[in-house]
Amino acid sequence: MSDRIHSLGGYFHEYQKSVQDPENFWARIADSFHWQKRWDKVLDWNFEGPDVKWFVNGKLNITENILERHLFTHGDKPAIIWEPNDPNEIHVTLTYKQLHEKVCQFANAMKAQGVGKGDRVIIYIPMVPEAAIAMLACARIGAVHSVVFAGFSATSLSDRIIDCQAKMVITSDGNFRGNKQIPVKAVVDEALTTSDTIEKVIVLKRTGQEVTMNEGVDIWWHDAIEGVSTHNIAEVMDSEDLLFILYTSGSTGKPKGVVHTCGGYMIYTSYSFKNVFQYDQGDVYWCTADVGWITGHSYIVYGPLLAGATSVMFEGVPTYPDPGRFWAICDKHKVNQFYTAPTAIRALQAFGTEPVEPYSLESLKVIGSVGEPINEEAWHWYHDHVGKGRCPLVDTWWQTETGGILISPLAGITPTKPAYATLPLPGVQLTIVDNEGNELKGNSVQGNLCIKFPWPSMLRTTYGDHERCKQTYFSSFPGYYFTGDGVKRDEDGYYRILGRVDDVINVSGHRMGTAEVENAINEHPKVVESAVVGYPHDIKGQGIYAYVICDMEGRSEESLQAEIKQTVTKIIGPIARPDKIQIVPGLPKTRSGKIMRRILRKIASGEVDSLGDTSTLLNPDIVEAIKTGAGL
Ligand code: WTA
Repeated sequence: MSDRIHSLGGYFHEYQKSVQDPENFWARIADSFHWQKRWDKVLDWNFEGPDVKWFVNGKLNITENILERHLFTHGDKPAIIWEPNDPNEIHVTLTYKQLHEKVCQFANAMKAQGVGKGDRVIIYIPMVPEAAIAMLACARIGAVHSVVFAGFSATSLSDRIIDCQAKMVITSDGNFRGNKQIPVKAVVDEALTTSDTIEKVIVLKRTGQEVTMNEGVDIWWHDAIEGVSTHNIAEVMDSEDLLFILYTSGSTGKPKGVVHTCGGYMIYTSYSFKNVFQYDQGDVYWCTADVGWITGHSYIVYGPLLAGATSVMFEGVPTYPDPGRFWAICDKHKVNQFYTAPTAIRALQAFGTEPVEPYSLESLKVIGSVGEPINEEAWHWYHDHVGKGRCPLVDTWWQTETGGILISPLAGITPTKPAYATLPLPGVQLTIVDNEGNELKGNSVQGNLCIKFPWPSMLRTTYGDHERCKQTYFSSFPGYYFTGDGVKRDEDGYYRILGRVDDVINVSGHRMGTAEVENAINEHPKVVESAVVGYPHDIKGQGIYAYVICDMEGRSEESLQAEIKQTVTKIIGPIARPDKIQIVPGLPKTRSGKIMRRILRKIASGEVDSLGDTSTLLNPDIVEAIKTGAGL
């Protein structure tokens, strides 16, 4: 594999090349892919627009690079190994040949249902192989997929359908998760009552639970593919045609649709996958994320499959039927690279080492972490008890917007340091700026993490609202892409991510905008005003703490707290349910009426000794009242 780095010297060498001559650096990597027409120009860009184009006028189809490209060399190699929720249910293996057939057939079925190039398709489905098949079938015909995590509520789903004006939903009857059976189709039905662009819903039968099938709209997956040909000619796509939209939370109330395009995303996810995980042909790789998040897109589906890898997909949860499940799966499928989130590690760590001990884990070569800062204690536990001290641990930093991993050790090549994402991949030009936007040069500095040069898998826009993309990412520090993260570069030039510096909190590796949660809380009729902050949580990384002013008439505190939690679950989904709700008589505000979140964050973390000067507040007395209410 020409784009694979093998040594630390090689890393520094490639890094230099990527900065001195980025266009040649990326052209060389892109040349190993199948293009229907080669690009005219590698890169056209400015960050003012922003307007970024990679592989200008290149023509391709990403699925030809996943399927046809691998058929001759390793058509019989497993592409996907699917491990069901129930360990007694038989697992499913799809070879590249089989995946090719299934994708082509489903692509034809989608076309027959009236979906074509440029149409938006919502995929709201649990972790089953059909999730990947549906994504690839969209890419095959040039439809733009938008996967919505199957834990989101009907309201969240409907908001996304409306925002992207989707034509089709691909879903399932239900979802198996641990010992629960969760309705999925019923949520779609509810979402469709408040949106009106969907023409067809394709429903996969997974749990067999009872569902309503609406005449003329709903069609079973198995009926849709019945007798449909497995031959399909891939749609010709431009490098900059949309591949997918993925909604993510930011510091404003409404999630935004991050847009990724075909050419650059293809190159970068494959390149980063091979290098970070040091994947060798024949290895079995497993990422435990859900396809509803960017990690599932880039490192279960696109990156590994573009690299011709075997990618394990798991339907269930880490603690079912017992907290040894992850390790049982590693041994069962002889997993070589294992990629998970710190929150999962901390949750399993809480059970001690006993559930890990029965398993050999000897197949593991590389272990990885993603989604939030990994604390040193979890890092060591993961490294010692899962990696047995011999597997390099890659702490990978990236975002929905970056499309792929930007900062990470290359497994076994870059020396690691606990809790450090270490160094940028070649091709990634980081910078740290202070709050005034001055670049902080040299080592031992700390500030806002920015990127000063485009990389192929960066977001191109936020769907339907380019101005929002500009405001959110390119305006805080003009000339740079701003990540929203704080970072430290230590004396060795290693990067350590310090967490978000905006109003985004990271709950179990899921991004939540505090404003989004507040908006949901405020929907409760008894709520007057609310303020949401994150606080340190042993397992989740950050928990959600809501301060709420309520009209208490006719309600007890407990009943209101329960109702508010329910409201948030209904509007966003269980992942946004506040961990703590404190009913307060008021909120600390500046004289201009802005909520002083800094103070609320300190109280939520129990750090009341360092509240700072509160005398300039509009209502200084309220701070004492809130402290008392919090039991501090
Ligand atoms: C955080 C997930 C520290 C960060 C791929 C970022 C991390 C946000 C790490 C993006 C890491 C992700 N160390 N923090 N290794 N990885 N983050 O869009 O705050 O769901 O901005 O993408 O997660 O979350 P997103």
